[in-house]
Amino acid sequence: MQIKILRSDTNTHQLYSLPAGEIPLLNALTYIKETQDATLTFSAGCRASVCGTCAVRVNGREELACAYKVKPGDVIEPLQYHPVLRDLKVDKQKAKETLAKSTAWLQSAQEATLTHNDEKFTEKQTDCILCDACYSACPVYAVNPDFLGPFALTRAYRYTSDKREANVKATIDNIQSNGVWDCTLCGECTAVCPKGIDPKMDITMLRGTSLQHGHSDPSFATQSFGTPDFGFDPNGGF
Ligand code: SF4
Ligand code: SF4
Ligand code: FES
Repeated sequence: MQIKILRSDTNTHQLYSLPAGEIPLLNALTYIKETQDATLTFSAGCRASVCGTCAVRVNGREELACAYKVKPGDVIEPLQYHPVLRDLKVDKQKAKETLAKSTAWLQSAQEATLTHNDEKFTEKQTDCILCDACYSACPVYAVNPDFLGPFALTRAYRYTSDKREANVKATIDNIQSNGVWDCTLCGECTAVCPKGIDPKMDITMLRGTSLQHGHSDPSFATQSFGTPDFGFDPNGGF
């Protein structure tokens, strides 16, 4: 079978041949590097969907190279919205900085008794492997590179939902600008997450918590809905 890979030096898709058979994309990339082109560059670590290092785009969709089974005709490209260092290897620094901006950690710890159900409540968000697949899939980055983005907001949700957090408002205040209200709720992040995390739902929940702490949707506040027509004078009496 043959696949195409976007090469950064020429900015063109280069065709490579692979033996027939169902193999992980990461094995295919390693095979190409060892037998056809030693300059092909990509990132990998655990080879077991744990480290989050190997995410790429396959036919325009984010996948972990170590988990995705390569198919004839696949087109492999680097993640979007990340500076390309070479071929499929990208610089993830700016994406990771969103975590610092969102202050997604315990702001003020208090003693609390955690039940098994409490742990279950945020277990899924804790599974995030920081693969950046959701960041690459998020259309907001095409227009707003400062958006905090799905994995930072999912982590903010994880900590604002923690009973040990005594100051939920501090994190909520920090995710208003370029944060919860800038999401379009398109669900692309949820669709590509290899760990089954649902950032769209977490952001929706954070909007509710934001309202409870005195914030409001800035686009809603600037909209004019005109004067409602009740068909009668509501102040006129009967
Ligand atoms: S749901 Fe929001 S955070 Fe997720 S991809 Fe869409 S715009 Fe981005
Ligand atoms: S939320 Fe999912 S897709 Fe996003 S970085 Fe974490 S594991 Fe990857
Ligand atoms: S190599 Fe670690 S997640 Fe793929």
